[in-house]
Amino acid sequence: MNDHDRGDTAWFVDSRFGMFIHWGLYAMPARHEWVQHIEKKSAAQYQKYFDLFEPDHFAPRDWARMARAAGMRYVVITTKHHEGFCLWDSQYSDFTAAKAPACRRDLLREIVDAFRAEGLRIGFYYSLADWHHPECPMDKIQPAYNDLQERSRPRDIVQYQAFLRNQLRELLTNYGRIDIMWFDGNFSYVREPGESHDLWDAANLAIMIRQLQPGILINERLARGLDPAPYTIDIKTPEQQIPATGIRDSDGNLVVWEGCQTLSGSWGYHRDEENWKSSRELVTMLINHVSRGGNMLLNVGPTARGEFDDRAQLRLAGLAHWMRRHDCAIYGCTVAPAWAKEPENCRYTYNPARQRLYVHCLVWPFSTLLLPGLAGKLKHAQLLSDRSEITFHESGDDVILALHGTTILSERMRVPRPVMRKPKVGIPVIELILK
Ligand code: GLC
Repeated sequence: MNDHDRGDTAWFVDSRFGMFIHWGLYAMPARHEWVQHIEKKSAAQYQKYFDLFEPDHFAPRDWARMARAAGMRYVVITTKHHEGFCLWDSQYSDFTAAKAPACRRDLLREIVDAFRAEGLRIGFYYSLADWHHPECPMDKIQPAYNDLQERSRPRDIVQYQAFLRNQLRELLTNYGRIDIMWFDGNFSYVREPGESHDLWDAANLAIMIRQLQPGILINERLARGLDPAPYTIDIKTPEQQIPATGIRDSDGNLVVWEGCQTLSGSWGYHRDEENWKSSRELVTMLINHVSRGGNMLLNVGPTARGEFDDRAQLRLAGLAHWMRRHDCAIYGCTVAPAWAKEPENCRYTYNPARQRLYVHCLVWPFSTLLLPGLAGKLKHAQLLSDRSEITFHESGDDVILALHGTTILSERMRVPRPVMRKPKVGIPVIELILK
């Protein structure tokens, strides 16, 4: 294998935190990005959203500023979800933002320019399934599956493969440097018995993609269902879960992985969803990804007017508040070495290049914190939010951090009392500088 066969993962692993954006016509019904499938809408019924799509508050520079402030270092944007609507001006489709009568612009170009201007890297999500394209192979997920006439209509896979190639060539030629090609919509697991799993000609797509964009990262979903995959997979992308020990190969080595997560359950804008995660939960999730050697790709579904909903903005602001003082416990960090056993109610992240171990206190401890097995290894300990010293002593194999600061006597009680209050930073982090 040579360098052309794989992507450049160094920047990706270092970045650890990205923004996912699911935006398409489904923002209008605002009740899940799969609404066309869930409600079995015909193409004619769905057309209404295309005719009326009017993103009059579209402000991608605001999106990009919020992403950057939250500490995100790359964005993955749905150029086209399963519904088939293209955010870009594709010459191979009539179902595009540039042709939608009340939109008439290349939304993708503006998004790419805005995020680049904020210094973020760019990833393109692309759905292999396309519910709008007449030649897309039929499967049980297609909204038209229950329509017997549609279901039995033969599809021309050669024509569909050419369509995929053409669209991908467009995306990877006309928008400058693209850092990630993030595939989805490969529903090979529901194919009819006897059908090929390699519907998309994955190997040749991968070759073309790497020729057009050397160094680009490709996720595993291009070839889901094919084992072994016909190309080198750069990123594994589990969704709505955080694998307990990261993702590892058969030798137990960590592979490059990125968990994608929602703010409230669905990916497209959902007006009525109730289970929004709090900022604190989201910070905890980010820490959990990094402490298991992965990235977190956090999704926002902009509204049909082109804005981030207030609930999303609030959560991004919460992340920004924490990241402003704690990003060095995230960037460049990974799983702690095996000798560092996590203390009670804490997570470790570890920066091998800087020899720093970060203790994320999910629950603020009482007056001391025991660090198992760290005796002889610490040079210095400090609270990351203000780099104020935390004194410690060793006890056998362990280190005990003193979280009571300077002991003073209270006038009335005449007993020593702890004076180090829980820092008001959401989840406090202690930075351990190793010898
Ligand atoms: C799930 C959803 C899909 C979304 C994807 C992101 O597969 O069904 O709509 O785009 O997750 O990973």
